[in-house]
Amino acid sequence: MILSTLISRKARLMHTITFFANKGGSGRTIATMALACGFLAQGKRVAVMDCTDQAGCNPNGPHPSTLQNWMRQMAACKFRPPQLELIECQTPGEVEDCAAAADARGIDILLIDTAARIREPQIAALGIAELVIAPAISPFEARCILDGIDEYLGPTEDVMCLVNGCRNGAPEATETRRTFGHFAVFHSELPSAEALSDQILNGDIGHFTASLACRPDKPGFARYREAQDAWTAVQRLAFEVEFALNGHRLELFDGHSAYPIKRKAVA
Ligand SMILES: Nc1ncnc2c1ncn2[C@@H]1O[C@H](COP(=O)(O)OP(=O)(O)OP(=O)(O)O)[C@@H](O)[C@H]1O
Ligand SMILES: [Mg+2]
Repeated sequence: MILSTLISRKARLMHTITFFANKGGSGRTIATMALACGFLAQGKRVAVMDCTDQAGCNPNGPHPSTLQNWMRQMAACKFRPPQLELIECQTPGEVEDCAAAADARGIDILLIDTAARIREPQIAALGIAELVIAPAISPFEARCILDGIDEYLGPTEDVMCLVNGCRNGAPEATETRRTFGHFAVFHSELPSAEALSDQILNGDIGHFTASLACRPDKPGFARYREAQDAWTAVQRLAFEVEFALNGHRLELFDGHSAYPIKRKAVA
């Protein structure tokens, strides 16, 4: 009896991830939406919490929020409650109550998008996070985030940085990763891609990729290939985030193994 209670409690445990960047345009919202798609593809129940200045917009008014627009497109891709929910919070109390209610409803993953200006609701969102993901689209954002981590989070092992959407390709991504210094950085990166930047127009990245699918000799193949690469990167990141939530880190395989079988990565 006791054992089954423990098991059912464990099975309902919700993971909470908060996106943090004390600089606007760092890619928090893009990464939030992308990771939601990645976890939905794994069959998880996902709630996205809007803890930005757009929270509380009228979805039917002239200016719905970014996440409200995205939810509309996700619904068109058949991702609706209870599989995917949008929660909007404007006060610390709402953040804590809504997170507890989402857990009780059986949500598997709560992803919290925050504003660049860190005020009380954002501090509450960071406070309840099991994992804080700090995305940067260039070394400049990464430098700002380093200062922000010192200022708002202090010494913590629960922050993981993310190289996301570097427009100038691999050299900029490498420099962004290097700028994060001693902080843990996900090995998986999100590329700069239309499939990611246009999520509020297209909804689910997997559906968008499928809608572009064509053979290599057909017009539009480059677009399809870019979307497919982005979708693969999103799914890879979702798995790496799940490893991180379970306390594991991917390490690069250096070619030396204590085991006779060669392993490409260890978790
Ligand atoms: N992976 C990516 N691929 C392409 N473009 C990207 C990617 N990530 C971010 N961007 C672009 O960078 C810009 C900022 O992204 P986003 O809105 O997610 O940042 P933010 O941190 O949420 O900013 P804000 O302070 O406005 O809330 C957007 O215009 C988006 O198109
Ligand atoms: Mg945003």
